Amino acid sequence: MGKKILLTGGLGYIGSHTAVELIQEGYDPIILDNLANSRPEVLQQIERITQQKISFFQGDVRDAKILQTIFSTNSIEGVIHFAALKSVGESVQQPLKYFDVNVGGLTQLLQVMQDSQVDKLVFSSSCTVYGQPTEGWAVSETTPLQEPMSPYGRTKRMNEDMIRDVCQTGHLSAVILRYFNPVGAHPSGLIGELPIGVPANLVPFLTQAVAGIRGPLTVFGNDYPTPDGTCIRDYIHVVDLAKAHVGALSFQTQRLIPEVFNVGTGKGSSVLEVISAFERATGMVVPLQMGSKRPGDVMAVFANAQKIQEKLKWEPVYSLDDMMAHAWNWQKNQG
Ligand code: NAD
Ligand code: WQD
Repeated sequence: MGKKILLTGGLGYIGSHTAVELIQEGYDPIILDNLANSRPEVLQQIERITQQKISFFQGDVRDAKILQTIFSTNSIEGVIHFAALKSVGESVQQPLKYFDVNVGGLTQLLQVMQDSQVDKLVFSSSCTVYGQPTEGWAVSETTPLQEPMSPYGRTKRMNEDMIRDVCQTGHLSAVILRYFNPVGAHPSGLIGELPIGVPANLVPFLTQAVAGIRGPLTVFGNDYPTPDGTCIRDYIHVVDLAKAHVGALSFQTQRLIPEVFNVGTGKGSSVLEVISAFERATGMVVPLQMGSKRPGDVMAVFANAQKIQEKLKWEPVYSLDDMMAHAWNWQKNQG
C-alpha cells in the first residue's frame, strides 16, 4: 500500500479528480466529506476509474472526533484540504456560514494535525486573492494581494494567513496552491463538475444551456476594455490541476514559511473565446445573449505560472478545446 493521504472534501469536483491522480501515482487516499456539495456515488466512480477500493469517512472537517479517529487509526503522511464552501454569491448573503466552515474547518484540521504530529499540508487557495491586478493582467506569487471582494475571498486570504502563522511554529510544512479557473472533466466522463442548482460558473452554465436544461447563456458584459470586450480568465483543465497536487505533496518546503504556487496555464481566454472553443470542439451551437456586467467581476486576470513549472516540473497538457470537449462529454452523461 502507498502513502496514506487524507483528502478533506475529496468527493468534490477537484478532490475527486485528485484522488484518481494520487492512486495512479501509487498513493493511498483517504476521503473525508460531509456531502454538503457532493454525491456519495462519486466514490464508486473514482473506484471504477482506478479499480481500487478507497477508505471513505462521511463527516465534517469541523468535527474533532472524526478527525481524531481518522488520524489515530491510520498512519497519515499528509493532508490535502479541499473541504470548503465556494459560492461567492452565497458568501455575501451568509458570511458567518463561510467563516464557520472555511475558517473553523481549517482551524480544527490544523489542531488535530498538530496533535497527531502530521505536518504536511497542501491547501486549496484561489486566484480570487489577487482581485483585479493593477499592473498588467498576469499575476505571479509575489504580486501584491488586493482587499478581498467577497467573504468567500476573505476566508481564503484568512486561511493563507493562518497557515503562514502556524508554519512559523515549526509544526507545519505547507504548500498553498492558488487555483485559477478549473473547468472540464475526467476524460472517462465518469466524474466532473455537478453543481447543485443553477450554476454560477461559466462552463457548467454553458453546458447546461446547450443541453437545454437552462435558457441561453448570458455573457456578462461585452464592453470591457479587453480585445473583444469580454472578461479574461485563465481556464485550467481539472485533471492538470489535480496532477499539480501530486507534485505539491512531495515538494520539500523551506521550514517556517509556506510555499505558494499559482496553478494556471499562463494563458488568458475571453468569454467569447471559451464559447468558440466549445463550438469548435463539440460541433454544438451555444445559445447566448449579451448581458450587463456582473457586479464584483474582475475584468482580466491570468497566471504567471513560471514558478510551478520550474519548481514542480508541472506543465498543463490539455488545451481549451480539450477542456470543452471533456466538459460536454460529462454533461451528456448526466441523464
Ligand atoms: P466542491 O464543492 O466540489 O468540493 C468541496 C467538497 O467539500 C464537497 O464535496 C463538499 O461536500 C465538501 N465539504 C464542504 N464542507 C465540508 C465540511 N464542513 N466537512 C467536510 N466536507 C465538506 O468544490 P471544488 O470546486 O472541488 O473546490 C475544492 C476547493 O478548491 C475548495 O476549497 C474551493 O474553495 C477551492 N477552489 C475552487 C475553485 C473552483 O473554481 N472550483 C477555484 C479556486 C479554489
Ligand atoms: C468566468 C467568466 C464571468 C457565467 C469564480 C470565483 C473565483 C474562483 C473561480 C473559487 C467571468 C463570465 C460567467 C455566466 C458569463 N472560485 N460568465 N456568464 O468569476 O472567474 O471566478 O470561480 O475560488 O473565486 O469568483 O468564474 O466561472 O463565474 O466566470 O459571462 O453565466 O465568465 O463574467 O468573466 P470567476 P466564473
